[in-house]
Order: sequence, then C-alpha cells, then structure tokens
Amino acid sequence: MEKVRIGVIGTGYVGLVTGASFANIGFEVMCLDVVEKKVNMINQAIPPIFENGLQDLLTDVVKERKLLTATLNRRETLEKSDVIFIALPTPSSADGSIDLTYIKSEVEELGKELRTMDGYKTFVVKSTVIPGTTKNVVLPLLEKYSGKKAGIDFGLAMNPEFLMEGLAISNFQKPDRVVIGAIDDRSFNEVKKLYLSFNCEIQQTTTSGAEMIKYAANSFLATKISYINEIANICEELGIDVSEVAYGLGLDERISPKFLRAGLGFGGSCFPKDVKALYALSKDLNRTSKILSAVLGINELQPMRAIQLLEGLMDIKGKRVALLGLAFKPDTDDMREAPSIVIANELLSKGAVVVAYDPIAKDTAMAVLPNITHSNSAEEALKDADAVIVVTEWKEFNNLSSKDFAIMRGKNIIDGRRVLDWKELINNGFNVKVIGQSPP
Ligand code: UGA
Repeated sequence: MEKVRIGVIGTGYVGLVTGASFANIGFEVMCLDVVEKKVNMINQAIPPIFENGLQDLLTDVVKERKLLTATLNRRETLEKSDVIFIALPTPSSADGSIDLTYIKSEVEELGKELRTMDGYKTFVVKSTVIPGTTKNVVLPLLEKYSGKKAGIDFGLAMNPEFLMEGLAISNFQKPDRVVIGAIDDRSFNEVKKLYLSFNCEIQQTTTSGAEMIKYAANSFLATKISYINEIANICEELGIDVSEVAYGLGLDERISPKFLRAGLGFGGSCFPKDVKALYALSKDLNRTSKILSAVLGINELQPMRAIQLLEGLMDIKGKRVALLGLAFKPDTDDMREAPSIVIANELLSKGAVVVAYDPIAKDTAMAVLPNITHSNSAEEALKDADAVIVVTEWKEFNNLSSKDFAIMRGKNIIDGRRVLDWKELINNGFNVKVIGQSPP
C-alpha cells in the first residue's frame, strides 16, 4: 500500500465514517472540524453521532493504532495530508437548491493556506453538490485564493459517497462501485490509490459526471420508493398484498428487490434534499422533470396515509395516539425529514394527544417534536392509548403481539411499515390497517 496521508474536512457522518474507514485500511488520517467539542470527542474515541460500529472503529484507529487524529487546525491538516476530502454539509435553500456557503468559505480558507505551502495536494469534494460545482465553484476559488493552478500545482476530484446511515461502515468497506470524477488523470490516480484494496469497479469520469451520478442514484432510489408506495395505495383498494407484488417485481434482475419496501415515505438528510435539488436544477435548465415532481408529490402525501387509515377507524379528536418509532428509519437517531414529524403534527392539529417511543431517537426527537410526550418504552407509550401507529420499523416492534397491545385502552392499530403480524392481531380482536394491504 502506497503511503498516502489523508485529510478530511468536516466530521459529520460522511466525513467521520470516511476518515475512520480509511484509517482502518492503514492510512494516516487527520480530521478537521470547527466544533471543539466534536474534535475532543473524536480524539477520545467517542463518536459524536450514533452509527453502527463507529465506536469500535474509533477505539481501534484512534486509541490502539493511532492512525486517526482530529484537530481544529486547518494548516496542520493540510501540511499532514496528500489527499484532502471536503465533507461539509450542503443544506437545502428555500427553493430546493443547495446552499454552498460552508463549502465556499472553507475552500477560500484552504486556498489561502495553500498559497504559502509546498508540495502537490489533491482536493476531493465528497459532499453532494450540484453538477458543475467542483469545476465552476471549487476550482476557481482554490485558484483565486492560492494563486496556484489546478492540474499543475494541485489536483482536484469529486468522489461521491453512497453510504446509508446505520450501514455506513459496511457500505464503505464493500461498495458496489467507486466513482471518481477528476479534472485530469493525475488527480484521478491520486484518489484511486486510496481504493486499490477495494474489490469493485472504480469508474473514472468528469467531476460533473460524478456529481450527477450521485444525484441520479439517490433520485432513482427515491423514485423506486414513491413508485412502490403508489402501487401499495392501489393494492390496498384491491386487497392485494404489496409485499408479494414487490417480491415478484424484484425477482426480475433488471428491477432488483431493493428499495421496494412500501411504507410511510422516504425521509432523512439525503433523499428529500437531493431529489428537490435535482428537480430545482431541471427547472433552472428549462428541462423540468415530471418524474421527480411526481416522486416528491407522492412522498409528501404518503405519511398522511397513516392518518387517513386511522380516521377510517375512529375520530381522532381528544384521543390518545401512540407512535412507535420516530427516527426517519431504524438504526439511527436521525430525525431529519422524518415522516413521524408530519404524522405527529397532523395528529396534534386534529386534537389528539400524542405519546411516542423511539428506541434511540428520543433526544433528537424531543428537539423537533417538543409538544408530544416521549416515552422510554413501547409499553409506556401504549399504555391507555386509543390507537397506535407504527411509524419506523425498528426490529423490536416485529415481536409485538396482541399481548403487548392489550395494555391499550382502544383496539386500533395502523401498521405503517408492515412489520406486525396482523392476522394474529385481528384474531385477538384488534382493528388493524396496514399500508399496502387491506386486511379483511
Ligand atoms: C441514502 C442512500 O441510500 C445512500 O446511498 C446515500 O449515500 C445517502 O442517502 C446519502 O446521500 O448520503 P440514507 O439517507 O442513509 O441513504 O437512507 P436509506 O437507507 O437510503 O433510506 C432513505 C429513506 O427511504 C428512509 O426514510 C427509508 O425508510 C426509506 N425507504 C428505503 C423506504 O421507504 N423503502 C425502502 O425500500 C427503502
């Protein structure tokens, strides 16, 4: 393995997982962040975010093998790195486009440091950015503030991430592909050196091509979800089980069974933001995407299906409704764009009392949903509830049966994620409605 030193700017889940995973391969990694608390935590091998396996990984690469350090010092990071990943947030602006403020100001600072530094370094954009950003925004800023020339004095590439929260470390270790968009062959080869031990195709493309691949991938996956959710809504009317339909669809290798789980819609920090950004871009280019518009529209309505199903069973006003699961998906404490937010707020506006339980997201959820009660167990949330909605498919909810729901005052159960054994529940006197199925 060639000795390449890596710098990572931004220790969000992408930056930190990337840094720690490269350190795990044996590379020396320095992570830069502006938040002192995070830097201190990382240096003590304490993960500042919840991510499966990250604790063990940090213990190994920070404490035992001493391959990863975190710092607040930009100059030190640059001096000790050959390849520098930029993994800063790109939040949504009000019109759906992305906000490049963090990236631009960081690149300016990097350029200023580079001005008085020797040696060829390669900068790599890891953040999800609109096609053209690396070439038209990052490159000119780096050149302007460093006084140096891209392709001669420094390299530049775009290397999107395809990590799923909760599975990020295993996704990093076993990617389906690595995409490296580079301004020239030298930049490509500098980044490729880091991935030589990976057993997958490494695609070389332009920086704009790599940026587009990331948006197209997330938008396609989101399209699969909205598609199956729409099929699920039709299945409900016909008494067909959407899981059987998805299974049959997925047997076709051209379709694949993945991302065909019907539910209450997609959330998280990526799909909603990325689909909106690509849609906004298509409009700007006068090529307005009809598919992406439909994907977003379906996803906006999908959480409301849970409420509609519940209203088919009872009047919500004044009732106590339990929500099981709040995080946007299981195995994370992330509440960004979680369907639970829409559902809880709608229930509140209809006059319900909402009591929720999430195995991990309680603290993050309290910040975004301060007006509901947050319980410490499913049992506590279910006690005396008139109805329950399963919102996130945490594994522990799979095992819930009529015995657990007997603690409720009412008998109404909405399974928004298709995890419960509805036959067992109906046999024991419960009224059950399931997304994508209409139990008799
Ligand atoms: C997503 C992509 O899957 C990653 O490849 C990408 O790197 C990442 O965004 C990103 O851009 O950083 P993530 O947001 O962590 O990853 O979550 P997913 O596991 O993809 O789930 C997204 C949403 O879709 C969740 O709300 C989930 O519940 C929902 N979903 C997923 C479904 O409703 N049905 C499915 O079949 C699959």
